[in-house]
Parts: sequence; C-alpha cells; structure tokens
Amino acid sequence: MNVKIKSASRPETEEGLQYHLRVKPGDVSKYVLLPGDPGRVVKIAEKWDRYWKVAEHREYITYSGYYKNVFISVTSTGIGCPSTAIAIEELARVGCDTFIRVGTTGALSREIGIGDLIISIGAVRFDGTSKQYVLTEYPAVASLDVTLALMFAAELLNVKYHVGLTASSDSFYVGQERPGYRDYMPPNQIGLINYLKSVNVLNFEMESSIIFVLSNIYRLRSGSICAVIANRETNEFIAEAGVEDAIRVANEAVKILNTWDELKIVKNKKYLTPETIYEWFREYVKR
Ligand code: URA
Repeated sequence: MNVKIKSASRPETEEGLQYHLRVKPGDVSKYVLLPGDPGRVVKIAEKWDRYWKVAEHREYITYSGYYKNVFISVTSTGIGCPSTAIAIEELARVGCDTFIRVGTTGALSREIGIGDLIISIGAVRFDGTSKQYVLTEYPAVASLDVTLALMFAAELLNVKYHVGLTASSDSFYVGQERPGYRDYMPPNQIGLINYLKSVNVLNFEMESSIIFVLSNIYRLRSGSICAVIANRETNEFIAEAGVEDAIRVANEAVKILNTWDELKIVKNKKYLTPETIYEWFREYVKR
C-alpha cells in the first residue's frame, strides 16, 4: 500500500503515525516491554488482564493493555541494534519513557544455568549503532530503579536470576565467537569468550547496549532481562528456556515501577528512596 509520508527528515504518516512502528501518541503506555521476537509479543500480552493489537508493520508488532490495572505496552524490536534504535526513537516520540528488554541470551560461564535469567546493569558496546550516536567511551548503563524493580520482581516470583554486565554484539555468529560459514573465524574474535569471562561479563545478546545508550542520552529509563537459552561453556542450547519466567518478571517489574512512580509523585521525590521502597513492600506483603 502506498502510504503518504509528510516529511523525509521527520517521517510520519498523514494520520500522525510513526513511519516504521505505525503508532501515535495515546496508543502506547509510558512503560514498554521490548522483546526482539515479534512472536513473543502475544505471549507477553496474554499475561495481562486485557490487551489489544495497536499496530503491525515489518518486524514491529505493538500491543497495549492492562496488567494489574497498569497501562502497559509491548513492541518487538527485531534482531539487533539498528532496528531496536528505530523502535526507541519512534516510541519516545509518542511519549514512552521506560523500556524493558525481554530477550534471550547466551551465558559465558557454567555457573549460569539454561533457563536462568540475567538482569543487565550495563552492556559492552559491541554494536555499530550506538557509535553513530555518541563517543565509544560513553557508558551503556541500565537505570537503577528499572533494574531494582526487575530484581525485586524476580525475587518475589522466586525465579533464579543473575545480575551483571552483558556484551551486546551486532553479530550472532563470529561476533559471539561462533564459527561462521565454513568455520570462518576472524583472528580478532578468537579468545573473545575467555576474555569477556575474565573481566566478569556474564552473557552475549544483541540489543541492550543501544537501549541503554539511547535511554541515557534522551533522559529516559531502561532495563534488560534475558532468559539464558544457550551456555557457551557447556555448549547447551534450549530454545525458549526461561522465556516464560522472563516475561512474568518483566510484567511484574512494570507493576512495581508504576507503584514507585506514583509514590515518588506523592512524596515529591526525584529519586527512588528507601522510604518509598519500604512503603511499597509493606503494602505488597499485605496482599
Ligand atoms: N542470543 C544471542 O545473541 N546469543 C545467544 O547465544 C543466544 C541468544
């Protein structure tokens, strides 16, 4: 279909929809879950009290709904940082300010089991997209309150999780030291897994770095939780292992964040305080 776009430098449709995602202000919550896989969008929305499809265009599928009375959305990003940057750009333009990646990952150490979850506090920027936005020394770090909400949700839902540094790569194969076609392996990638392990990086995935970098540049918030489907030391791989747990934790983290955000407004606090956490937890255990 030939859709008329108003401007080449600020592409929106004549109805005010973002060019790639086809969403407009009001369609999506400020809290957006970001799986890579479009097929995971419905799996996430099915856990909500009610949900509806907002848009579908290319790799981007968006649903909105309510989870425990909180307005929430989910948009698939596709694989890798270029398509994820487009998702963040267009979601930010329609009013979203809190992003949680819900992905899958390969763990680097045998201490991290298949099906465990990894919550990233920061990401090594092995991606090209974030370098087009800001100098390479700029850190890719998650937001404190989003990360804490993910940790508390994982704890309360009693799932096994790890917290630490992630490496976000543009390449699933040689960039993660997996042999390419005909066993191709560029010399500069040999030993990468051991090197990253030696500096306490927990896992490989492909999107967190750009989500963290763009969220910090734009003064938005973000976090990342990934299910461990591969272990590069034991050489195990179970597609979808832990994904249901990652979804449950991410949804619950949005509920927690929303409670904290409302308490922060009532208390006129810019940052999350021990008092806010204490008040939330006192109510939480009463339920
Ligand atoms: N996603 C990745 O990027 N790497 C893995 O090993 C598994 C999932």
